[in-house]
Parts: sequence; C-alpha cells; structure tokens
Amino acid sequence: MDQIVNVNEFQELAKRALPKMYFDFYSGGAEDQHTLKENVEAFTRIMFRPRVLVDVSKIDMSTRILGYPISAPIMIAPTAMHMLAHPQGETATAKAAAACNTIMIVSYMASCTIEEVASSCNAVRFLQIYVYKRRDVTAQMVKRAEKAGFKAIVLTVDVPKFGRREADIKNKMVSPQLRNFEGLISYLEGSGVEALASSTFDASLTWKDIEWLRSITKLPIMVKGILTREDALRAIEAGVDGIVVSNHGARQLDYSPATITVLEEIVHVVGGRVPVLLDGGVRRGTDVFKALALGAQAVLIGRPVVYGLAAKGEDGVRKVIDMLKNELELTMALSGCPTIDDITRNNVRTESERLK
Ligand code: FNR
Repeated sequence: MDQIVNVNEFQELAKRALPKMYFDFYSGGAEDQHTLKENVEAFTRIMFRPRVLVDVSKIDMSTRILGYPISAPIMIAPTAMHMLAHPQGETATAKAAAACNTIMIVSYMASCTIEEVASSCNAVRFLQIYVYKRRDVTAQMVKRAEKAGFKAIVLTVDVPKFGRREADIKNKMVSPQLRNFEGLISYLEGSGVEALASSTFDASLTWKDIEWLRSITKLPIMVKGILTREDALRAIEAGVDGIVVSNHGARQLDYSPATITVLEEIVHVVGGRVPVLLDGGVRRGTDVFKALALGAQAVLIGRPVVYGLAAKGEDGVRKVIDMLKNELELTMALSGCPTIDDITRNNVRTESERLK
C-alpha cells in the first residue's frame, strides 16, 4: 500500500479486485454521466489565494459536527452494500472511521445490520434512511438505530425514483437480500436494484413528512440531496438540523449541477443556522479546502471509501481518509490557515471571479 500516493489510485485497484458488475455499480453514474465528470471537474476550476508568512508550524484540522468532535472535516458518505466490496462490509468501514476519528454515515441499504456495525467499533455513526412505502419498516429502522447508539438520522431526499444507471441495466445487476430488512420486506429473487427501489421506496414523500420523522425520533435530522437555495430554505423551515448538498454522486438526475458550484448559494440562505455539508467528487485535500472556503462545515467521501474497502479492506479505507487528511493539512499550511476557522471565502477564487 506504500506505493499508493493519492486517493484516485484506489479506483484502479478496486477495478482489479472486483467483479465487473460490482465495480460498475460502485463507479457508475446516471445516463450520460455528465454530472459524474462535472462533480470532479468543477473543483479544478477553483483556484487558491494563498497567504504567506503565517505561522503554520501547527495545523489543527479538528472540528465538530452536530457537537461531535472529529479529527478533520472529512466524513464517510452513506454508500450501499459494502459486502459486495469486502467480506467484512460496513464493519470494516466503521472500524476505519473509528481509527481515523471521524463519523460514518451508514447506508439504509447496508449489507451488515445496524447492530453489527454498532458493535464492531465505537465510531460516531449516523444512519441514512430512505422512507419505504411501509412506513412501519422505516420507523423500526430508526428505532433500532437509536437503540444501537446512532447519533443522527440523515434523510436522503433525492431518490423519489431510482436514477437510470445504464451499466447496472446492461450488467443485470441484482440486489442481494439486505439483512436489516429480513422478514420485513420480501425481495423478488434476482430482481434488479431499480426494481427493488421502485417497489419499496415511497415516491409520495414531501416536506410534510419531516414532521412524521420528527414525531418518531428525538435524534437530529439532516436532509441529504439539496441542490437549490429554495429547497435549502424549505429544509430550514421544516426544522432540519443539517443539510447535505449532494447530487447522490451523480447517480440520480444527470445534468444536475456539480455540487461545489451550488454550495455557496445554499450556504448564503442558510446563514449559519444549521451545518451545511457537501459531497460529490471530493478526491483531494485541496477539494476539501475549497468546499470549506465556500462555506461547508465538512465533506463526505463516497466512492473512494468503497474503492479503498474493495482494494484493502479496513486498512484501505483508513488510507483513503488519512491521505485526504494529509493533503488537507498541507493545503492549509500552504494557504496560511493553521485552523479550520482560518479558512475563509478569501482563500479561493471561483471561475466567475477570474473572468471578471
Ligand atoms: C451512493 N450514495 C448513496 N447515498 C445514500 O444516501 N444512500 C445510499 O445507499 C447510497 N448508496 C450509494 C452507493 C454507491 C455505490 C455510491 C457511489 C453512492 C451517494 C453517496 O452518499 C454520496 O452522495 C456520493 O457517493 C458522493 O459522491 P462521490 O464521493 O462518490 O463522488
């Protein structure tokens, strides 16, 4: 593993480690995959305004999310079915999160049970949820998460229907039975992931249902999948405790904007009332820094974590997070920002500003 020098190199290792069907499932985006490319490329259009002769002999990357201290503003995004990547599945990812002192958001579509993930390590965990037509099943998951010590619920709001991921259609990607729902949801043997989602997910979900969620849990609620200032305001009005700016890793609506390009308008209307996180295309410490400069409190990492897991299990995930942390530390030093609070809007220049 010593030869791996950046997070992107794990993609090739994962490709070699995984059956094509699973690698395609993890790496793919919706339709033309335009947003998939844009998520990464939009970061490359933001440049720095580095400040010099600042004492950067000590860099402190630590921060807090919903009051929980983490070693750096880099968290683990919820991604489905880690056992397709590694036999230890989410328990390995969670151990890596604990070792790196960060928060893992466990997917509703995890292959390990909530309780298995909880007992594998003491990482701070949030549970991501979808809302099933069978509300009782979703409510039961939320209760189990509370009991297992999860600290927040992250409601993903960008999947009323499943995006068209053409590689999965071609490969006839099938969804394994998810152990969390054993005995609750009956899967059609061999059915595709899209068929599974459309038969179970509640496409009638609206902002009013945040009240329902609030009525069944005392945990803080974040919404994940916000891309406009209008929806950010609706989320605040609905009383959420945090917002994740996300286009679902470009797996839902193709030609959605790259997340980093809409972050600022959302941060602006939120006005510091709740934390704003971002995910999509974060592959470098410089990307993390850019997101923070444009107002995010932290970023979530999706695919690179899965690639690290597929290639090297728990150690691979640790390495992915550690490399991003090291790069962020260097970026902060070279930008003249010894702490997270020192990173401001003045540290970056966006494309539109450069054109002026
Ligand atoms: C995801 N994502 C996701 N999101 C979610 O809320 N619940 C889920 O179960 C999943 N599953 C999932 C599987 C795979 C294979 C991927 C790649 C993504 C979206 C995820 O949380 C996150 O928004 C993106 O992955 C972030 O983009 P990057 O870091 O992958 O570019």
